[in-house]
Amino acid sequence: MKKEIKRIAVFTSGGDAPGMNAATRAVVRTAGYHNLHVYGIYGGYEGMINGNISRLEKGDVANIIHQGGTFLKTARSEAFRTEEGRAMAYETLVAHDIDACVAIGGNGTYTGAKVFTETYDIPFIGLPGTIDNDIYGTDHTIGFDTAVNTAVEAMDKIRDTADSHNRLFLVEVMGRHAGYIALHTGIGTGASYTFLPEIENPIDHLVEILKKSSRRNKLFNMVVVAEGNENGGAMAISKLLKDEHNIDAKVTIIGHLQRGGSPTAFDRVLASRLGYNAVKSLLAGKVNVALGVVNDSIQPTIFDDAINKRKSINEDLLEMSEILSL
Ligand code: F6P
Repeated sequence: MKKEIKRIAVFTSGGDAPGMNAATRAVVRTAGYHNLHVYGIYGGYEGMINGNISRLEKGDVANIIHQGGTFLKTARSEAFRTEEGRAMAYETLVAHDIDACVAIGGNGTYTGAKVFTETYDIPFIGLPGTIDNDIYGTDHTIGFDTAVNTAVEAMDKIRDTADSHNRLFLVEVMGRHAGYIALHTGIGTGASYTFLPEIENPIDHLVEILKKSSRRNKLFNMVVVAEGNENGGAMAISKLLKDEHNIDAKVTIIGHLQRGGSPTAFDRVLASRLGYNAVKSLLAGKVNVALGVVNDSIQPTIFDDAINKRKSINEDLLEMSEILSL
């Protein structure tokens, strides 16, 4: 018979994402509503290993829905990859009588949850918290919308100076393996071209676009570069343009600015829905799954699929971004 869930723990792990606080708040408030005790684990799996855990009351999550970052802190844990580390984490959970965990993070977080739940009898629910939007089983991840809005705002400013000086700008956005931030930023700012990690982007193609642009008397261009594209980042592309085509470009790397800041309304609502449903799912016995929102409804995905299946880049959006930029 399954153990009745009375005490749960919540933690954030991997790269932080705006909206993680809103998700934690929703977990704590929903659990409180159902008379469950909630514990916060500080510093992700590292905190679980080191016993960095304490009780969270409903009032402890007041005044955080609008805050970026994660008050629970986060980390990428090497120790949790080891059996010894996971055994120590289990001891922490047992010492606090934790019946189930809610893990908010990305692929690495889900992998940790999957491996842990294969050995230990404490169920997990995963919530997709990453700016990259690269999690299978959800249309959007918590933090993606905010990150794109940050990049768009930065590019709107770059547009002013690019236009004034008739310059070419290469703007690098985050995304080591996923081009969602780049693609959406490119579309949202009318960029001339977007480099993604998922597809081949020969430099010659960009050079053709720039030539076309100049034939049309377009005097400035903004190009978005996902950090993980095949040519390297914006600095590497600028060097290739100069060395091979004698084209000058200014480089802006938006970097970790995209990870911070107050979450957009979209991310706050998404995070709240997911946090609320994480507790409902635990109480209904639907465990060891990652939750997502697909076509506006909550969907569970088994950890294996959420980790291993790829959400592919939307080909139609890709084609559209090229057509609209011409
Ligand atoms: O996974 C989110 C992300 O922001 C990626 O887009 C980026 O490549 C990576 O994290 C950077 O990680 P870190 O902050 O650990 O350098």
